[in-house]
Amino acid sequence: MLKQNKSERAVFATKFAAIATTVGSAVGLGNIWRFPYEAGIHGGGAFLICYMVFVFLIGVPVLYSEFFVGRSARANIFGAYKKLAPGGQWQLAGYIGILASLLILSFYSVVAGWTVEYCISSALGQLDFSDTETGHGQFLNLTTGWRPVIWTVVFLFCNFFILIRGVTKGIEKASNILMPILFLLLVAFCINSFTLPGFKDGVSFLFSPDFSAITPGVLLGAMGQAFFSLSLGLGCMMTYASYFNKKTKLGRTAVTTAVLDSLVAVLAGVIIFPAVFSFGISPEAGPTLVFEVLPYIFSQLPGGAIWSTLFFLLLFLASLTSTVSMSEIGITFFCEEKKMSRSKSTILVSLIGLVGGLLCALSFGVMSDVTIFGMTFFNLFDYLSSNICLPVGGMICSIFVGWMIDKKFVKDQFNRSMNDASLGVRILLLFFRWICPAAIFLIFLNSIGII
Ligand code: TRP
Repeated sequence: MLKQNKSERAVFATKFAAIATTVGSAVGLGNIWRFPYEAGIHGGGAFLICYMVFVFLIGVPVLYSEFFVGRSARANIFGAYKKLAPGGQWQLAGYIGILASLLILSFYSVVAGWTVEYCISSALGQLDFSDTETGHGQFLNLTTGWRPVIWTVVFLFCNFFILIRGVTKGIEKASNILMPILFLLLVAFCINSFTLPGFKDGVSFLFSPDFSAITPGVLLGAMGQAFFSLSLGLGCMMTYASYFNKKTKLGRTAVTTAVLDSLVAVLAGVIIFPAVFSFGISPEAGPTLVFEVLPYIFSQLPGGAIWSTLFFLLLFLASLTSTVSMSEIGITFFCEEKKMSRSKSTILVSLIGLVGGLLCALSFGVMSDVTIFGMTFFNLFDYLSSNICLPVGGMICSIFVGWMIDKKFVKDQFNRSMNDASLGVRILLLFFRWICPAAIFLIFLNSIGII
């Protein structure tokens, strides 16, 4: 629950609410749709190892630094940098954040639109996944043409509806109840994976890394995925942390979020890959992988249509808690920095998402051969935001907390969030100042072929 405090900015009332909302933002299509397809393209086990290392080595400290800035400043990403280090140049991170959040909102809404389509079609009993040929044909019907455009609009409308009701009511109520149900459902499907003929192949694809498969592209992809999945780098977690109360333990919240978030991704992998190998689908299918594979899993289950409806419904809701969080970045910016009303800001962000969403939705159909740098709008928006903007935004935040932030904030936040200030603080500073920025920088250099 959020309650209004004296400074007129809402705060989360309980520790649980703080964790539930950050996990609600982190867990979404990134784990269930993006992780399996990225892992599939980048060699499975090799990708998983890199991803895990990045989540805990870079992701957790950067998450901590975002919490830190957000709670110290109690403002949106722009306001936060402005308040903590007057001068202006740090606000560049704000522009990157807002741009990336709108790009992500665009392609994310398209995929979320597919979940709506699948949910409704399975509820109406219209999906026939008796064999891979029909399944594939139907999938193409559902994701090309005009239908995905309609579902993208429907999804953005739902997002708009939640946002317009304000932070107080909308966001956490839903995520508090729904995330645990989604988690249980994933565990159930995971157990079902044991019965599939491709179980062994799937699991060994995901868990036995071939280290020679680690290329610069795998490293960049895994880093992008770690940032995407933890909602890092564009001030999303910063904005949420601005609603944390004084007692919230930042370190513990960061680690809990990372553990739960990666657990969901691994569960999704254990669900998808055995099925990929059982049904003879290529793990390298890309963004459409999960939507091609899941229906087969459901078709093997008794009462498959019911499972399918339930699953896509929950996935749709998980996507909503994520899009709400990413829209919040732009909305708080327009509200607090440009002095627009909340409803106007919400309309503006939704309209931008709509235009971007249409470009991405049509990327699978009539605009599939409109490419920039060899990528469709959908792929370009994803690549630019996840692999470039998010790590750059995270690097800026980490450097900012490590080197620039006013000492009085550092002391204040650390004392609140840590019992043993000295050693913990030194280790954290080492990460903020050196390890995170250097790791991110080296991976960029590596990916453009310099090292
Ligand atoms: N983390 C979310 C997911 O995995 C997506 C998301 C929500 C996000 N807010 C974000 C990604 C902010 C990057 C930045 O589905």
